Amino acid sequence: MRLYSNLAVIFLCGAGVASAQDKTAPTFTKDVAPIVFDNCMTCHRPGEAAPFSLLTFQDAKKRGKLIAQVTQSKQMPPWKAATGDVAFRSDRRLKAEQIAVLQKWVAAGMPEGDKKDLPAAPKFASEWALGKPDLVVKMPKAYRVPAEGRDIYRNFAISLGLKEDKWVKAIDFRPSASSVVHHTLFFLDTTGTAAKLEAASGQVGTSGAMGALGRGGKGKGGLGALGGLGGSSQTGSLGGWALGAQARTLPDGLAYHLPKGADLILSTHFHPSGKAEDEASTVAFYFADKPPAQRFMGLQLPFGFGILAGIDIPAGKKDFSIEDTYVLPVDVKAFGISAHAHYIAKDFNVTATLPNGKTKTLLRIPDWDFGWQEQYRFNDFLDLPRGTKLHAKITYDNSAQNPRNPTDPPRRVRWGKQSTDEMGSITLQVVAAREEDFPRLQTGYRQHIRDAAIRAALKKFGKNR
Ligand code: HEC
Repeated sequence: MRLYSNLAVIFLCGAGVASAQDKTAPTFTKDVAPIVFDNCMTCHRPGEAAPFSLLTFQDAKKRGKLIAQVTQSKQMPPWKAATGDVAFRSDRRLKAEQIAVLQKWVAAGMPEGDKKDLPAAPKFASEWALGKPDLVVKMPKAYRVPAEGRDIYRNFAISLGLKEDKWVKAIDFRPSASSVVHHTLFFLDTTGTAAKLEAASGQVGTSGAMGALGRGGKGKGGLGALGGLGGSSQTGSLGGWALGAQARTLPDGLAYHLPKGADLILSTHFHPSGKAEDEASTVAFYFADKPPAQRFMGLQLPFGFGILAGIDIPAGKKDFSIEDTYVLPVDVKAFGISAHAHYIAKDFNVTATLPNGKTKTLLRIPDWDFGWQEQYRFNDFLDLPRGTKLHAKITYDNSAQNPRNPTDPPRRVRWGKQSTDEMGSITLQVVAAREEDFPRLQTGYRQHIRDAAIRAALKKFGKNR
């Protein structure tokens, strides 16, 4: 008996040793490092969005169990879009084999492996994801965001000092206090007015929101809203940055116009975090070497981040939805899509029904997360012929069972600018298939906005009678 149990101990120890040295178990240097270097390091390195680095064996080992867990659950790498009918560029999702390797590595006790096997860590040409920018500007003075209180919308004018016109193919943005910056929209001011107002006030920035939220009513700048977070080459709006978004380069042949002497206006939405923070944003520009061949615009459905869509969600309601349908007036080619909402949005579904009756899913986000306002770019231009019916449906969950509901118990939620209010829209980035059709695309979409405004007004009128 004694002998038997000794044998058992020896046997068990043997098994343990064997598994730690198991030749088939994945090692960090050979199997895990290539996965982590290619798929995690863009964010998990110093200066980037993620809270810790994944550069070394020690880094990975320290959080091995968590890594296995969050890759298995698909929480990491972050990617909220489900597989639809159109492939996205820079899809971050891991392959099933890669997830399995991470699982096995952790189960085998996270062996380091032979140092000779370690691949060279990827080199990043600069701390900016798209490489060395052509122009970097920073807010000259930091803005103090108080610890408490309501959300703040504020505009900051930054001189670009451009002596000649430029064309911009990408813009990247870096907040200095990322915990309080919810989003920023980029605008141009060629009149110097914003900078003068700011200087005259003696404060850092001026209050108010621009674009879909503020300028729309005043006529002149209203087109800024067309682009939503996606921007447009036409309107003085250069798109924007939101929590979790990564800068994307426009497709070849497209660019934003940056006139000489223009000031950049950052229109930033702050959400106080409980701790006072100083924000001095940095913005990086990447120039195109020649003017664009085509104009582009964002089709936002529903318009104005849903301002006219009747967002009014009763407390406790589980499946409240808004919808918008738009029929394309000309042949277009789409190249990107983004979604915007706040905390209690749950599901985005965007489809295109082609004139031949076929329906394609352009974007489906089954589990919306406020923290990842991704701007998706299609792999190729997607042809959407005239007569294609675009349909966007956004569903909200205002019940207490929604773990992302910021208010407990739930309260009635309407459209509004506070983070605890709601918004909801998608923006499809398009060019006209034939450049000469572009004006018709613009007027068609403007008509769509007008129709929505009339419907909303009639509904209100009906309610008030
Ligand atoms: C696009 C940027 C990005 C990429 C790519 C990315 N991460 Fe993250 N990761 C983050 C951010 C931001 C956080 C912190 C916020 C959060 O948890 O959502 C985070 C958090 C984590 C956490 C902590 C989760 C927790 O619940 O505490 C782990 C573990 C992690 N990432 C592992 C990985 C691994 C492994 C990869 C690659 C396979 C990866 N991440 C790729 C941005 C990224």
